[in-house]
Formats: sequence, structure tokens, C-alpha cells
Amino acid sequence: MGSSGFIGVFDSGVGGISVLKSLAAELPHERFSYFGDSANAPYGDRDAEDILELSRGIVARQLDDGAKAIVIACNTATSAAAATLRDEYPDLPIIGVEPALKPAVLAFPRGRILVMATAATLALEKFQRLEERWASQAEVIPVACVGLVDLIERGDLASPEIRALVERYVGEYRGTVDGVVLGCTHYPFVKDVIRDVVGDVPLFDGGLGTARQLRTVLTVRGLLEDDDAPGSVIFSSSKETAEEIALYQWFFRQRI
Ligand code: DGL
Repeated sequence: MGSSGFIGVFDSGVGGISVLKSLAAELPHERFSYFGDSANAPYGDRDAEDILELSRGIVARQLDDGAKAIVIACNTATSAAAATLRDEYPDLPIIGVEPALKPAVLAFPRGRILVMATAATLALEKFQRLEERWASQAEVIPVACVGLVDLIERGDLASPEIRALVERYVGEYRGTVDGVVLGCTHYPFVKDVIRDVVGDVPLFDGGLGTARQLRTVLTVRGLLEDDDAPGSVIFSSSKETAEEIALYQWFFRQRI
């Protein structure tokens, strides 16, 4: 390791690219290597053991390739694997993401907060504890949006199928919630659809918080890139086709 290593970032697929955008903006001199496990997406319908195994394999490969830190740009994999991986690699900075419930509740004390996430994220202990922590200060409404990740993976963000699925899951809350937590890193790519369906309320995602956390951890550990040259972002995928990499680059160019 050392400040010359790269930062390994991964997700089940394209979703973590929403986090990567914040990371690259916050730390413009760092080198990022993004891996999307699109061949195995979605993680949110898998059991925790399975998600841990997949995450373990990705982290081992990124370390072999020279990663100095890892960002798990996936709420689901963070819930299922981050604690175990930190035990297994005590010296490796591993930064995860979690649904941004805290900032949402602090913005709307006693408000109604909708939390959209995968089924696995909502079922696992990490979210249960987070919900317990904040449920006395606001009404928290968790909604598992099964199938939404699969549609976003296809890249047609304005498709009628996405609109219909968002409508089916959260249409009933239109005009009745104060804020929406995007508890899956895929969802920021369909922010406009979610706002259209739920109403023009603040949306909370973990991208910026994760980027700031990464900066803090790298600073404390003396791992920040000290070269002033522009950083870089490279993509790889378990789908391994040129089309898939082009799709990742397209997602990285999207304004969210
Ligand atoms: N983007 C991921 C998350 O933040 C995982 C989605 C999935 O593969 O189900 O939860």
C-alpha cells in the first residue's frame, strides 16, 4: 500500500457509479478503479452469505491489483459484507454506504421519511438498527423496490417500465412524505422519475457523505495522493464486454 495505490470501488453493477461521481469530484487527484458485478446483479435478491462471498472475491482481486483502499459503493453489500471484510483486512481502509436516514430525519424531525432500498438492505441487521435509532424521531416508511435495479442496469432510464415500477411501489405516497432516502446506489440515476411520482421533495443519497468519509480516512492514514496531477477512473465488469464498459462510461457522464 501507499499513497500511490488506487482506490477500488465496487457495486453489484452500474449503481455505484453514482457514488464514484462524488468520489472523483471530491478527490480529483486520486486513481479510481471501478468494478461492477453486473453478471451477478441484483445483489438485493440474494442472501447475505452469497453477497459476502461475491464481495470477498472482488476485494481480494482489487487488493491483488494494488488497491490502497476500498469503497463498497453498494448499500446491500455494505450491509452484508463490510463488517466481516473489515475483520478480515484490519489494515485496509474499507468505506461503505448506508441509507442516508440520519440527514433525512435531521432535516425533517417528526416528518415522514420514505426509504427506498433493496429487499436485502431492509431485511439485514444494519438497517434494522439504523431504523431503530431514528424511528422515535420521525415516521420511517421502508419500501423494498424489487426489480428496479434490473431495469436501471439496462440503461434506458426513461423507460415506461421504470416509471410503472416506481409508481407501483411508491405512488401511494405522492404528496404525503417530507423526504425520500435513496437507499440503493442505483436509484439516483432515476431521481427525476422518483420526484415525478412522489412529488418535489428532497432526496437523500449517500454519495457525498461517502466521499467525505473517504477523504477523512485517507487523510488520517496518510494515504492521500500527493501528486497534483489529475486523477483517473477506469471501469471493469464481470460482464466483460465492450458494450458493458461503454454503458458504465455513459452512466458516469450522466448528471444526477
Ligand atoms: N446498488 C446496490 C445498493 O446500493 C445494489 C443493488 C442490487 O444489486 O440489488 O444496494
